[in-house]
Amino acid sequence: MDIAIIGSGYVGLVTGACFADVRHSVICVDNDQRKIENLQNGVIPLYEPGLEEVVHRNVSANRLRFTTSTAEGVDESQIVFIAVPTPPQPDGSVDLTYIEKVAREISEVLKEYRVIVDKSTVPVKTGEKVADTIRRYAKGSVEFDVVSNPEFLREGCAVADLMNPDRIVIGSNSDRALSLMKKVYEPFMAPIMVTDMNSAELIKHAANSFLALKISYINAMSAICEASGADVERVADGIGADKRIGRSFLNAGLGYGGSCFPKDVAAFVAISDELGVPFTLLKEVQRINQNQMDRFIKKIKDTLWVLKDKRIAVWGLTFKPDTDDVRNSVAIDLVAQLLREGAIVRAYDPKGADKVAEYNLCEGVVLAKSALEAVEDAEALVLANEWNEFQSVDFVQVRKKMHTPLLFDGRNLFDPVTMKELGFIYHGIGRALAR
Ligand code: UDX
Repeated sequence: MDIAIIGSGYVGLVTGACFADVRHSVICVDNDQRKIENLQNGVIPLYEPGLEEVVHRNVSANRLRFTTSTAEGVDESQIVFIAVPTPPQPDGSVDLTYIEKVAREISEVLKEYRVIVDKSTVPVKTGEKVADTIRRYAKGSVEFDVVSNPEFLREGCAVADLMNPDRIVIGSNSDRALSLMKKVYEPFMAPIMVTDMNSAELIKHAANSFLALKISYINAMSAICEASGADVERVADGIGADKRIGRSFLNAGLGYGGSCFPKDVAAFVAISDELGVPFTLLKEVQRINQNQMDRFIKKIKDTLWVLKDKRIAVWGLTFKPDTDDVRNSVAIDLVAQLLREGAIVRAYDPKGADKVAEYNLCEGVVLAKSALEAVEDAEALVLANEWNEFQSVDFVQVRKKMHTPLLFDGRNLFDPVTMKELGFIYHGIGRALAR
């Protein structure tokens, strides 16, 4: 198939590269000239395991190219995916300016039948508005179909998620569009679920907010575990073994962050309010998420007492491991709060430090070059995310380098007993017995 992807950000680039890898011919479009030039020169604007290789392989095979011209993309493709940002507004609702702009751009260059696919995460009923917009601005009567095809990839394993999806959701009631969309996804050999457009759009928000709810559920449980002397890891194993519940996304920690969950939950709350059916359960999910960080900071303060001038090492800055994405990272919030209290923070992240420095996200933080450098003379070590690398650090060395062996494990990455044996005073999340 000939495919255009408008918007070469995270979702657009990974989707385009993976489509090319299954032998489709793909044009990735973006209005950021520098980004496109970089991509044309083989420079990938983000870190995602495996992505660089897939991009280079498919550019070499002439199946993947980059342009700033929407007209070129629309002219040369049967299917046009929209994968532009849908950023949050201060009230939690979604800013659909980019979607509307792309819809108008497409309408201006549309000459013959195209399937226009909404891949960006959008509120329910957006597809209907995209179709209205294209119809309104199109020059003359031209045939097209708008389809919703939400993306479920996770950063850090985006290529694998895209190549091996659990399901493909296609929202459309046009047979013509559906048959083309099925051809796009045939090589992925995944179950295809066909729905109407509104249901497909809702599936994305419902899936993400359900996962966020699962995380908040176990985080609320972690507070109960601390109050009652239980261990949240054992509770998660115990309930997660029930196939109806499942163990994944039951990892207690500092709360969910990133560019999706906080935004999508807020958007879903806003849409449900707008539809006149307030989804108050999700407001509680948000409250628990915020509370989780507050409880963790309190734990640090209860132990260290005054944070002013305390030397604190933080491992992890990205919003989760295996990415360089620091958007809405709870690790950054944590560092910012420690800095506000006057602590001297030395942080290390395997991939995120450059972006933290570039966007000046934590003014005053010292960025260390290694995990061991970060803990030099530290009075406490705080683990903010669970990069694999942190598990293989020599903790005998860590213990020697630190001034005081206090360990706050914000992701329950380490075994409390082992850490105790190594001489640390260990504080995890919801692990009252571990102390
Ligand atoms: C998410 C969805 O998983 C994906 O399907 C969707 O397409 C985009 O949003 P992503 O934001 O990349 O993906 O990361 P994810 O792995 O879902 O983690 C989101 C946040 O939840 C991270 O901050 C992570 O640390 C946190 N998390 C995740 C937990 O705190 N506990 C868990 O058990 C799982």
